[in-house]
Amino acid sequence: MESVISVKNLDHFFGKNQLRKQVLFNVNLEIAAGEIIIMTGPSGSGKTTLLTLVGGLRSAQSGNLRVLGQDLVGANARKLTQARRHHGYIFQAHNLHGSLTALQNVRMGLEVQKGISSREMNQRAIAMLEHVGLGNRVNYYPDDLSGGQKQRVAIARALVSRPKIVLADEPTAALDSKSGRDVVNLMQMLAKEQGCTILLVTHDNRILDIADRIVHLEDGKLANDTNLAPAS
Ligand SMILES: Nc1ncnc2c1ncn2[C@@H]1O[C@H](COP(=O)(O)OP(=O)(O)OP(=O)(O)O)[C@@H](O)[C@H]1O
Ligand SMILES: [Mg+2]
Repeated sequence: MESVISVKNLDHFFGKNQLRKQVLFNVNLEIAAGEIIIMTGPSGSGKTTLLTLVGGLRSAQSGNLRVLGQDLVGANARKLTQARRHHGYIFQAHNLHGSLTALQNVRMGLEVQKGISSREMNQRAIAMLEHVGLGNRVNYYPDDLSGGQKQRVAIARALVSRPKIVLADEPTAALDSKSGRDVVNLMQMLAKEQGCTILLVTHDNRILDIADRIVHLEDGKLANDTNLAPAS
């Protein structure tokens, strides 16, 4: 079966001329459907860069990068936008819109899709908020929610469209250990329910056990690819 995410000999550079600096070196990574992969590594090792390339948030320059069968090396803006429709992205800081309620924020996760009525968007967004335990907070604004609750809204927004791939960049960094645990348990449960693939960056050793596989990035190079459990 073809990998959902296939990275081969991927290099990445930032800057131009004398300032040009290589941050990813010959990265190879194959991820199968439904796998949960955790990526660790020191600050500055290139984790976010790799995640944003896979997510189509920036354009890959050289090597091979196939995501859901689409070749993303040298892809133009239109193709990247298209690719992003299949991903849910969860950032370290939840990135909610402060002027929108929890419900409106989650709805935004559906607005990129075509052919869903406003009524259905509301129903699905409310159902997803209930699923993450926030059925009694749908009309709250982010400022009136706790850190863990905001992150759960962000997860609801990322997953409401049932994306095939979820990319998460330190989703528990701003949370205490209990809320962090709740958040990853929730991601794992929703992923298994929806059969989606998760690539999650973390420094948090307490959540490593949710991974099927852990990969380590150091100085832009991917090392020890540890198989914890066979991918089902
Ligand atoms: N837009 C950019 N322009 C130039 N250099 C950048 C840019 N973004 C990141 N870098 C550099 O690329 C390297 C990798 O950065 P990246 O953000 O991928 O690291 P990271 O592993 O996610 O670190 P952290 O754990 O601190 O989030 C760093 O040396 C960083 O300074
Ligand atoms: Mg980062």
